[in-house]
Amino acid sequence: MTNTIRTQVGILGAGPAGLLLAHLLGKAGIDSVVIDARSREDIEGTVKAGIVESPAAEVLAESGVSDRIYREGMKHDGVEFHFDGQAHRFDFQELVGKSVYLYPQHEVLKDLIAARIRDGVTPLFEHTATSVEDAESDKPRIVGTTAAGEPFEIVADVVVGADGSGSIARIPVVGSQQGGYYREYPFAWYGVLVEAPPSAPELIYSRSDEGFVLISTRDQHIQRMYFQCDPLTDPTTVSDAEIWDKLQAGVEGTTLKQGPIFRKDVLRFRSFVAHELRKGRVFLMGDAAHTVPPTGAKGMNLAFSDVLWLNQALRSFFATGSEELMVAYPENALKRIWKAQHFSYWMTTMLHITPDATDFDKLRGLGELALLTESLHAQRYLAESYTGWDYGVDDWR
Ligand code: DHB
Repeated sequence: MTNTIRTQVGILGAGPAGLLLAHLLGKAGIDSVVIDARSREDIEGTVKAGIVESPAAEVLAESGVSDRIYREGMKHDGVEFHFDGQAHRFDFQELVGKSVYLYPQHEVLKDLIAARIRDGVTPLFEHTATSVEDAESDKPRIVGTTAAGEPFEIVADVVVGADGSGSIARIPVVGSQQGGYYREYPFAWYGVLVEAPPSAPELIYSRSDEGFVLISTRDQHIQRMYFQCDPLTDPTTVSDAEIWDKLQAGVEGTTLKQGPIFRKDVLRFRSFVAHELRKGRVFLMGDAAHTVPPTGAKGMNLAFSDVLWLNQALRSFFATGSEELMVAYPENALKRIWKAQHFSYWMTTMLHITPDATDFDKLRGLGELALLTESLHAQRYLAESYTGWDYGVDDWR
């Protein structure tokens, strides 16, 4: 027998986007059900980027999710770029009066899940959606099975696909899981988690003939570092000694503090924007709607913009019955999506050297970086984009 759950908003995916939307809707008295195929432990244990923009931190703290980000997150007022054997610091506070917070995504997820539980609406973990039906009716449905193999269906007024880059909600919206504007890059990042103290007070983005290196951090005891690699690299085949060589080669002048490497992964680089973000009463947001390459750490920060626009549209719909803002959601969300796509692409192409780069390409790239270090206007563009543009939607409070 199929277990049927009735709610106003059925949300696929207990990632940052789905959980934040459920939280904001809940504050307006709108009920939702969030489901995810993964267990709570899996979700809270998955390694993702660590940078939270200042507008995103504000949403988390001021909407009542948690102010832990201000108490436990590390405020970073700038970053370093290393290239051509030199280090250059960009001071965000001086340039635009803003900062970012080093607060790993799994900590954001712990806060969001705790807030749902505190509000009495625990997400349904280990519930796998197999399809979204009746998108163009006023009762769209999520159909799936639980980990125990029991069938369920969620009948809602609105269904939201926040189910990541393998989204099944894309199928009713764009006709397939792939339908979108798309770009792949001929490199990837080899990422490690290391048990060691921080090697530098701020993040270091480095570009050299050896490839890209990023020195990031998680806290005083755990560090996150990446180096450029071939996308087909099997993470298990690279030795610790090779990893330290690659990382150290990228940051001459800074001696990396080494320690046991306890996690190795390869991150693929893709830019993607779905051809459509809405079909009838089914909406896409977060990675289901778009993915960015990791350079600049825009993924979760961009997802929050979708959430704020959709929250505004759904609050208006449930209060007045008007679909106007729901219809406007794609256009509103896409403005920031394409700006963030450009910023992520710019950071990526500026800081990496492709395997087939000519001498012209390499020298042109150094010209671009020289311009950045000499032009205050260019530095402000970097700082403004990195620390996060204002979301421009205020009615989430
Ligand atoms: C991290 C990841 C990024 O992609 C980035 O640009 C900065 C930091 C991180 O994982 O810490």
